[in-house]
Amino acid sequence: MSKILFFLLLIPTLVLLAVIPSAFSEDLHQMNENDLALDISNADTVQNGREWYDRRCSFCHGGQGKGGKGPCLTCGKFTYSANTNMGIFTTISVGITNQSLGGTMGAFGTTIDGMDIVAIVTYLRSEERRRIESGEIKDPYIVQEQMVFPE
Ligand code: HEC
Repeated sequence: MSKILFFLLLIPTLVLLAVIPSAFSEDLHQMNENDLALDISNADTVQNGREWYDRRCSFCHGGQGKGGKGPCLTCGKFTYSANTNMGIFTTISVGITNQSLGGTMGAFGTTIDGMDIVAIVTYLRSEERRRIESGEIKDPYIVQEQMVFPE
């Protein structure tokens, strides 16, 4: 390939690489590159998730996911779900049936649509972000060690 052609192709490639992430990934919440990406800046999705949460979850997990009979879901700590969006989505869908882990958390995958469960997780993550940024809770990620996800 001629040098000129190479640079002609290189420049738009670099521009795209710089522009795409800043345009799209800015408000996407992901715990690692393979994790479910949640658009926590989408007000409609967050509101839909909030409504589902208030109807079906707040009874046990408290208002704004602050915890009650069930654990806090907006504290940045998900011990049962490995703190990934995919893990939380799975926990909500299939529940926690293992009695030695509690076994109180039901399966919602049959009564709540997949996209609405995604909206619930999006709401929980946006609320978690809000609570960290407002100083309401200590940022749980500062002290956390880099997690390694085996393939
Ligand atoms: C009957 C009470 C109850 C209801 C209703 C309930 N949960 Fe739970 N949930 C629990 C309990 C208790 C646990 C802790 C594990 C256990 O004991 O099974 C839990 C665990 C979880 C976890 C795992 C947390 C972690 O640390 O990884 C998630 C996520 C979760 N619930 C989300 C939800 C969502 C979302 C809803 C609504 C769709 C919901 N729960 C409704 C009681 C409930």
